[in-house]
Amino acid sequence: MKPKGNRSSGSETTLRPAVAPCAGILRRIIMMQDTHQLRCTGCARVIAHEDLKENFRCADCGELYEVEYPAWSVLAATPVRRNFPNPSALRWLWKERRSSSELKDQSGVWRFRDLLPILRDEASIVSLREGNTPLYHLPRASRETGVTGLYGKHQGMNPTGSFKDTGMTAALSVAHERGFAWVACASTGNTSAAMAAYAARAGMRSLVLIPQGKIAWGKLSQAIDYGALTCQLRTDFDGCVRVLNEVVRRAPVYLLNSVNPYRLEGQKTPALEIAEAFDWQVPDHLIVPGGNLANSSALGKAFLEMKHLGLTDRVPKISVVQAEGANPLYRSIQSSDGRELTPVEAHTRASAIRIGNPASWKKAVRIVHATGGSVEQVTEAEIALAKAEIGAEGIGCEPASAVTLAGLKKFIAAGKIDPTETVVLLLTGHTLKDSEYTIHYHRGELLHDDELTVLRAAIDATRRNPVELDADPDQVLRALEQAAQ
Ligand code: F0G
Repeated sequence: MKPKGNRSSGSETTLRPAVAPCAGILRRIIMMQDTHQLRCTGCARVIAHEDLKENFRCADCGELYEVEYPAWSVLAATPVRRNFPNPSALRWLWKERRSSSELKDQSGVWRFRDLLPILRDEASIVSLREGNTPLYHLPRASRETGVTGLYGKHQGMNPTGSFKDTGMTAALSVAHERGFAWVACASTGNTSAAMAAYAARAGMRSLVLIPQGKIAWGKLSQAIDYGALTCQLRTDFDGCVRVLNEVVRRAPVYLLNSVNPYRLEGQKTPALEIAEAFDWQVPDHLIVPGGNLANSSALGKAFLEMKHLGLTDRVPKISVVQAEGANPLYRSIQSSDGRELTPVEAHTRASAIRIGNPASWKKAVRIVHATGGSVEQVTEAEIALAKAEIGAEGIGCEPASAVTLAGLKKFIAAGKIDPTETVVLLLTGHTLKDSEYTIHYHRGELLHDDELTVLRAAIDATRRNPVELDADPDQVLRALEQAAQ
């Protein structure tokens, strides 16, 4: 269970790799080759990656770090773009790589590796050919909302069925490169599925902490299938995070929750794909579900970096939508414009985002403010209806992803999105992740009467419960006639 790194328990533990004292000169040379450093998002302290603590929090102020690339700040200050290809060359290169037979080029994360130079050696890459996910036009939802330019970026079409794969290939490759034997996460299901798969691919072991009885079966089955040590704890997600923080302090396991800044570097790449799909004219608005609140900040970081590097000339507004029963960010924006956040006890059937104390809330607030986006909350009935509507587009998604369409309707009603704008919904998970939810919905068993209220008729119109018949063609033909009416 030991990493090659010389870690000991105690508060001073860092993720510093083993370096013999006599190798000081060698280490300085290696340091010089580092392409990235880490900046604390609270106190702006800058550290080298060797000085990261095992919980990825700043030793001074306790806030989270963000990866930054010093070469890019030089870029901004000098008119001559030394050592960095020009934007057109990069755009061309990234497209060209799609037709290469090399694994790192076929990955929708690593083909953009020029914007995430976090590894010393590309041979460390652990990839399942993630990314390169489809951007679907949503014609039915377009008609209903009046937004003609409405698209779904379907991150559920990744190898393990969620957006987590893009971040996992990045952070797990770092763990692999640094010689860790074990990786670990607390999860509402998708992170654990992704981590278990990538760890298995790399020949590493993985430890999963999940809240007992509170994650979708599809996700639990994935973690087990890919060989994780899966511990179901008698608590919620936030309780699992607390336990895991103690575990990583006491054992040499590499934490792969989204507090790990390398996860976010991988999760930037869907933003690059979106910009590429729009021929580098970014959409007006991107709507993202909010749980632990890392994904919105990763996408925002990508759009800000693209603009900084001259790849695009503006950033989209990035808005976050939460479930009404798991809405700490929404409350924070309402009560203090995002200055303070009070954790809540989270309740929602969209189990992926059942999170009451989101780790990355400050990063998300910064991105929402920096891009001019908004934060919204949606009810259980609104989520369920939106999920059925995305299903009716022929693509489907898991409940947490559907908050984006439900949120869009509210943003339009509040005048925050104009139907002439181009809007992308980030669909974070595949519909098969939580098929139980879908079946309960269509059987009319998901929502209680007091939740249905004004949406009852709209919901009933979308329900498609299977019809039970005898093995008789006449009965099937009658069912066909009825359905055609
Ligand atoms: N959508 C899905 C399908 C998710 O699985 C998650 C988070 C989110 C949205 C929210 O993203 O946390 O970056 O704001 N799932 C995590 C997990 C927490 O453990 O799988 P976020």
